[in-house]
Amino acid sequence: MYSINRVQHEHTKEGAKFKTLNTYHLYHNLPKKLFVIGVGPGSPKYLTDAAKDAIRKSRYIIGYKYTLIIIESVIDKSRQHISEITMDNQEKAYNDTYNKMAESDYCTVTFTGDVNFSESEVVDRLLEIFGDDNVEIVPGISSIQIAAAKSKVPLDKASIITYHVSGDIEEKKLELVNAIIKGKSVILLPRPWPRDPKRNFMQSDIAIFLRKNGVDTSNLNVCVFEHLTQDDKETVFKGKVSNLEGKYFDPLSVMVIDQVKRKTYLQFP
Ligand SMILES: C[S@@+](CC[C@H](N)C(=O)[O-])C[C@H]1O[C@@H](n2cnc3c(N)ncnc32)[C@H](O)[C@@H]1O
Repeated sequence: MYSINRVQHEHTKEGAKFKTLNTYHLYHNLPKKLFVIGVGPGSPKYLTDAAKDAIRKSRYIIGYKYTLIIIESVIDKSRQHISEITMDNQEKAYNDTYNKMAESDYCTVTFTGDVNFSESEVVDRLLEIFGDDNVEIVPGISSIQIAAAKSKVPLDKASIITYHVSGDIEEKKLELVNAIIKGKSVILLPRPWPRDPKRNFMQSDIAIFLRKNGVDTSNLNVCVFEHLTQDDKETVFKGKVSNLEGKYFDPLSVMVIDQVKRKTYLQFP
């Protein structure tokens, strides 16, 4: 079996030379192939053609309800097996599907936004089950990118942090304080933990944490976006970080701390 990074020798007059393999042919000759695709983050308008191709090619589609709704118009229930999963049954669904698949079958697992941001706990498990070489990751448009666009805070001028992880976040909290002290903007995903609210790190917790760590939150601009790209539900809150204390936001939200100082090319003669 080939690896995407593997190269083959090509013999020329000058001697052995390396030649990179064409990835299309690599991927299209794989057994039990898995597409891991990003959809949304809320609206099908942001679904890429590459993601649609993967869905159409697949006999099996697995995803949370939220993502399956986004791809509804691309799915064909008469010929595709659709598995709606939850956190509790996902492990069984991935394994059952893998075991049912014929060598020539394709499966797609859908993720919100970009697969490469704040999804690695699940993606790593899928790589284990299917094997790295059989998995193609199709990037999507992240909620972080939409928030950057709406707040006009460029990604390259911001620290990007996700608290939406199962592990310890103490170091990431320090990263946040340091970024703000250095004058950087921050785009972050908060941590909702409905089953154990002590582990929440939502907007109000973040504002209190920053104040307690010496940040003047009454002077720090912030936007909180909820339900991005969901036309009828999307909201934005604009104010100072101190205004967030005691305020509730939906778990489906992105927070942007804006410290951008704009500089155009005219300032770099
Ligand atoms: C597990 S993370 C997945 C992030 C995702 N991979 C991305 O690139 O946007 C889930 C979190 O992403 C954020 N998120 C995803 N979709 C969103 C949306 N439409 N509006 C606001 N936040 C969203 C929320 O903070 C949510 O709790």
